[in-house]
Amino acid sequence: MKSFPGFLFPVLLGLQTAHAADVPPLAYYKDVKPIVDAYCVSCHSPGQIAPFSLTNYTEVIRFRKAIVTATQSKSMPPWKVDPLHDYIYDISLPAPHIQRLKDWVDQGAAAGDPMDVGPSLSVDKGQIESIDAVARMNAPYHPNTENDDDYRCFLLDWEPDQDTFIKGYKVVPGNPKLVHHVALYLVDPKNLDKVTAMVDEDEQDGYQCFGGPYTKGKFAPMPFVGIGGPGNGGFIFPEDTGIAVAQGSRFVMQVHYSSAKAEDLDQTEVQFQLSQEKLKSGVYLPVMNVMWPFLKDTMKIPAGQDNVSHSWQGNPLFSLVGLFFPSKLNYFKGAKVYGVAPHMHRLGKSITLDIVRRDKSVEPLISVSNWNFHWQNTFFYKQPIYLGPLDQVKLTCTWDNSKPRHEGETTTGLKDVYWGESTEDEMCTSAMFIAEP
Ligand code: HEC
Repeated sequence: MKSFPGFLFPVLLGLQTAHAADVPPLAYYKDVKPIVDAYCVSCHSPGQIAPFSLTNYTEVIRFRKAIVTATQSKSMPPWKVDPLHDYIYDISLPAPHIQRLKDWVDQGAAAGDPMDVGPSLSVDKGQIESIDAVARMNAPYHPNTENDDDYRCFLLDWEPDQDTFIKGYKVVPGNPKLVHHVALYLVDPKNLDKVTAMVDEDEQDGYQCFGGPYTKGKFAPMPFVGIGGPGNGGFIFPEDTGIAVAQGSRFVMQVHYSSAKAEDLDQTEVQFQLSQEKLKSGVYLPVMNVMWPFLKDTMKIPAGQDNVSHSWQGNPLFSLVGLFFPSKLNYFKGAKVYGVAPHMHRLGKSITLDIVRRDKSVEPLISVSNWNFHWQNTFFYKQPIYLGPLDQVKLTCTWDNSKPRHEGETTTGLKDVYWGESTEDEMCTSAMFIAEP
């Protein structure tokens, strides 16, 4: 066998480097900045929720290794849903961009020419296109600092003096460092006095509430409108759907404040895009076992176990929740599922929701196999899914209750966990955003 004369090696190597030198290394301004600006900066900039900014070369170069790790593992951008369907408002980073960030770092993370900036990219986050109405807290509020968490419900005024449809909304936290999340509920005029009675309970604006928009012992049906928080403020409802709001309605806004200090203030508002045209009126229908909140042991998560599952299967439209839920839908026609918002608390590992058709065939609606309490979302389909009046759904949640939650705790101090409103308790539910088919 012939071998190459040794002196040829440097020549071959030389040729290779000469070739690589023809292609300039990837540069920040041209190749990386457009990706980071579109996919990262909305959270990674001053005053937003991420702990550091990624708005310029110096900042990005400082975190380059962590950026590669976080994007390769898909922990960033936070988009916690398994890709079983195509979703609108998907903020995850496409594979070629993930690769480009890694290549840029591997090739030396050059800055390049600041005048040679690559074309900007856009990500459709479904943000509202006009502000047609605003609902705002009456006055700045001092969150309660006795506990780490303060859940406060505020009754908001509603300006439009006619029946209308909400096409989209955006939550604008007054103090993004304080506001963990905001949930919005609709108050029908006929239930208004029930809610004013709740507001009158203490001196401060609003009332203390937990989980739902209720104070202890008082109740009024209030359909859920949406959730939002820093970095994930709201969206336009899909296709020709929206939420019908009757003239004279008001809103209850539940704000979850965490780690507030005495001097902290907040005045959060919600902006709305409205539609004068008639839309299909959507409703969030919660899927769950109605026994879980009432019979503790039906959703027991024993201390020390790292893989505990509970499931519920049944007809969501004609379940107790489905029938009770205020909606003008004719469930006998079935419904279209436009999106799903899965919900558990901190011990959650995974959650799935499947349709079980009449012929027993199974179709997945949603699956989150890597649950993270901080990254909850409503995931809307590109193609809505039809749910027949006699179809069932199957909800399954899995938890890990084998690790201490707080500093200084040991595994011997672990407690059994049950359904409950506190973040120390657990939940297992998925709200389907449905409308007439
Ligand atoms: C929706 C808001 C949001 C978006 C969008 C986002 N981040 Fe983050 N990022 C955060 C928050 C908040 C943290 C703090 C850690 C946490 O809570 O997970 C974080 C943490 C990180 C970290 C620290 C390591 C880690 O994984 O926790 C890196 C690196 C990072 N982000 C990079 C990025 C990059 C790169 C992008 C864009 C491709 C991006 N992030 C998009 C909110 C966001």
